[in-house]
Amino acid sequence: MRWNPLVLLAFSLGASAIPPTDVGYDLLFADTPKEVEQECTDAPGLPSFFNGNFYISGPAMFSIGGMKFRCALDAFGKINKFELANKQVCFSAKMLRTGFYNDSIKANTVAPGLLFLGTDPPRKCPFYNPMCNMLDSQGDNNYVNTLKLGDDYTLISDTSLMLDFDPKSLRVLGHRKFKEKSWVHKLHIGALGSAHPLKPQEGNFWVELLMEAPMMGKSYLDIYKMSNNDNGRVRTLIRSIQTNNTQYMHSFGMTKNYVILPFNLALDMMKAMPPHPPTMENAFVPDWNGIHVVSLDNGEVQKFDLEPFFHVHVANSYENETGIVFDISQFKSNPFKGASVDMKLQLNATVRDNNDNLGELKRHHLHLAGPLKGQVTTEMISIPGRSTDFIKINDKYSGVHYCVYYANEWKHDDQHYASMAVLKHNLCTGERQYWYQEGWYPSEPFFVSGSENTEDEGSLVFTALHGATGKSHLVTIDAQTMAEQVKVELSARIAFTAHGEYFPNKSEL
Ligand SMILES: [Fe+2]
Repeated sequence: MRWNPLVLLAFSLGASAIPPTDVGYDLLFADTPKEVEQECTDAPGLPSFFNGNFYISGPAMFSIGGMKFRCALDAFGKINKFELANKQVCFSAKMLRTGFYNDSIKANTVAPGLLFLGTDPPRKCPFYNPMCNMLDSQGDNNYVNTLKLGDDYTLISDTSLMLDFDPKSLRVLGHRKFKEKSWVHKLHIGALGSAHPLKPQEGNFWVELLMEAPMMGKSYLDIYKMSNNDNGRVRTLIRSIQTNNTQYMHSFGMTKNYVILPFNLALDMMKAMPPHPPTMENAFVPDWNGIHVVSLDNGEVQKFDLEPFFHVHVANSYENETGIVFDISQFKSNPFKGASVDMKLQLNATVRDNNDNLGELKRHHLHLAGPLKGQVTTEMISIPGRSTDFIKINDKYSGVHYCVYYANEWKHDDQHYASMAVLKHNLCTGERQYWYQEGWYPSEPFFVSGSENTEDEGSLVFTALHGATGKSHLVTIDAQTMAEQVKVELSARIAFTAHGEYFPNKSEL
């Protein structure tokens, strides 16, 4: 066969147009609805302390009936489960048959509901029913994080709704029902939550937020707890503070004595009412009001002002002699809008490479005592010019002094956003270590402890997409050396994912 030189030239130009760091990156946002029924693979490198299940969910179907979602987090979700024990990896995957998914499949279009960014083409309503896409009986497209409440498993996002699922079959069981007598204020709706509840060092419960949206008057931000002893069925109010606007707070910090709340973003639902499309993009209102520190002891609120920022994830918080150390990944502008979440922009290499709204991990000292009382001193933790987020620590160090965090790092090569690494950063020694393979796209690394005594003795578990082959893998690495232990090729591709969680089997607890 003879090749036409022009064809060869075009082929080589086309091939060279995609740098090796970006090959197959677009597959993170491509349909992968295939379901898998417990496929097991031998994994001789799996450390023997693994005896549990790793769940990680994410979008898997990005369009329906000719209508595309604009934001990955609006797409239909799939849950992936990895049983990790006895030198084996068993993989299962199932589309999440949420109310939103079921309604959409039935109608062969995107069902009514509030979306982050809306659809392409935009959804429309008839003139006689302008609220048609707002009136959502489901609101359950939840798959950002997995929470285990006693014996129950539930999927959570930034809404107040939690979606229970069966950990064996991965079947959606329905919207979680709570049993407490509601403490939500009159003429208010418990609208939003945080996707990152926190577990204190002492006590068998989770602390979570509920943002109350007013029908009239002021909003409230409630701090409440859910006990593992009753499978989290009764929410008990700890503190409630009045706020000017309805806060949007994806994560927060907590120490033994304080809850730390960065006020930087609010929702004004009136801005998502007709004639405006029902999207969070429209409802978001930048709302900087400092970092609020709420005493769990007496409810006293201390406000710390500093240069405004936006945030998605808090790394950790702890108390020292003079105050609170608060480590947080922060952004210049709202990270829930623009190139970070808009798939059309994410899929444009030039746009994503030029996106300067990057996650910068910073350490804030909130001085509660001493000569700097009431002030904040700040230092940069991450490497400027790269984006650091999806931060995890050894959970046993949540709320107390710690040294090590793990994260995803985008722009690892200081040039291409798609150059993604798994970072280990020891804040006590300053050492950085990486798992990086060009053209591989890792998910958030989850730390599984292999020791009671050493902070970083254990493994990181994550999924990684190899862009060139389009194959996803389950990877574990030694958290001390970052050396690979397990890399199992999976029979179904996994697109972009949010947070994974590992739960030890009962005998391990
Ligand atoms: Fe998150």
